[in-house]
Amino acid sequence: MSETKKKNGFASSIGFILAAAGSAVGLGNLWGFPYKTAKYGGAAFVFVYILCVLFIGVVALVAEVYLGRRSHANTITAYKKANKNLGWAGMLAVIIPTFIICYYSVLGGWTVRFSVNSFQSNETLSNANSFGSFISNPYTPVLFTAIFLIMAALIIMGGVKEGIEKASKVLMPALFIIVVLIAVYALCLGEGVAEGLNFYLNPDFTKLGFEGVLAAMGQAFYSLSLGMGIMIAYGSYTGEEIKIGKSAIMICVFDTLVALIAGLAIFSSIGHFNPDAFKEGSGVALQSVGLMYQTLPQVFASLGGVGKVVSFLFFAMVTIAALTSVISLLEVATQFVIQKFKIKRRKATLLLALICFIVSIPVTWSVGGAFDGAITLFGFDMLTFFDEITNTALMPVGACISCITIGWFIEKGSFKQRMNPMHTYRALEEDGLNLGATGKIFAVMVKYVTPILIMLLEVFGIIAKFGEYAPKNLNFVWVILGATLLMATGIIVYFAFFRNSYTGTNEDEFLLEKPRDKTQTLSAQNK
Ligand code: PHE
Repeated sequence: MSETKKKNGFASSIGFILAAAGSAVGLGNLWGFPYKTAKYGGAAFVFVYILCVLFIGVVALVAEVYLGRRSHANTITAYKKANKNLGWAGMLAVIIPTFIICYYSVLGGWTVRFSVNSFQSNETLSNANSFGSFISNPYTPVLFTAIFLIMAALIIMGGVKEGIEKASKVLMPALFIIVVLIAVYALCLGEGVAEGLNFYLNPDFTKLGFEGVLAAMGQAFYSLSLGMGIMIAYGSYTGEEIKIGKSAIMICVFDTLVALIAGLAIFSSIGHFNPDAFKEGSGVALQSVGLMYQTLPQVFASLGGVGKVVSFLFFAMVTIAALTSVISLLEVATQFVIQKFKIKRRKATLLLALICFIVSIPVTWSVGGAFDGAITLFGFDMLTFFDEITNTALMPVGACISCITIGWFIEKGSFKQRMNPMHTYRALEEDGLNLGATGKIFAVMVKYVTPILIMLLEVFGIIAKFGEYAPKNLNFVWVILGATLLMATGIIVYFAFFRNSYTGTNEDEFLLEKPRDKTQTLSAQNK
């Protein structure tokens, strides 16, 4: 068995850590974190964010990786192996990430276009001047979405070890080097840098408020790719030799570092070239897509020839970040389809990538405002609608279920015994989760503290969203209904088709890819 694991799983600890960090480091780090930090009180936000990563992120990350590791199987089988009545949670973990791909790839496609377009000499077509015309074009963004998805599919088709691991081992160090280089360059720009840093990091607890705390919690989840089965899937491809606790900490440190450094680069350069951007009512976009695709290209343009290189490097880095995230999103469903339906990896990947591409086409038009902005869902552009369904509504649900599964469902015993976290601690250790001295703290957290914090995030996060959208005459109820519908569909499909059938493991996948070895195939059939 362990031989099998080695053959289709991650070959090394560092390979796993880099792949998981690849999933974690994405658009959320490179623009979400910096602008939220600036908005919610600088270092005050960073402080709360780090607490959230420690108290919620690391705990949920360990829970998910372990859920995968103990089962060596796709998310549905993983949940079934934890408790036979929980398989539906694994189904949600297949559906939610697949849904995310349909909008994340659109943004990934834009990023590819911005990197290849960095050397554009035609002024009107340059990155600085063509954001609006590019995204509202009905064809080009679709083409770039396709290119982006094809890149992701090609890597996944190579398999976990030969595709995902090898790519991450090259791409993640490259990303880190680029972000550090750009930050050093930006910090050395001189005039205005101090203003930029002041805007970014100056601690101001009055700006933080409850809303900022919620934003920090949500950002921690999103940034660590939690609650969507990704870490379960990646965890399933690890062996006993990987230390889960240490790996989780390293992933979190890497993720947070990249986010912080990206912010240094972004705000120092805006401070240098466009300090007025920080004045209230300046009209310069410092949030969301506007920051990345409008303000920064203008900054790069003002750097002249060097700016073209910096722009290329910057968007190449963002492409890498988005690519390794989409790879992880696509891997979850791919793994399940291979193992359940005994389809080869290549076919499964292509099929799923194609489905995601088809769904992403209207999303591309909707967010870009093509066809005069006619494509919306209940007044929301489709990207925002999908994003809210997954991130605000469903991600906390997924993460909460994984913590509760590890915190309550692995151990046996009476309810009274199970109330005691030390009972859980011993049960988890017996089960194979060895966290050393921190095991007891983990048990308390995963059983009580983290799930409660996540539920608070869910409830208050949703309430806050109603307020946020009301002034725009948008009703968040539609998002909640959409999320409920998606969840219900997943659960019904699970009970109709997968509840009582064998849903496969990594071993099935291994045997499928190596059909010539008859002895192994036979021994698996006899089990
Ligand atoms: N963690 C990624 C980011 O920070 C986004 C992501 C979310 C990726 C969920 C995969 C799953 O952008």
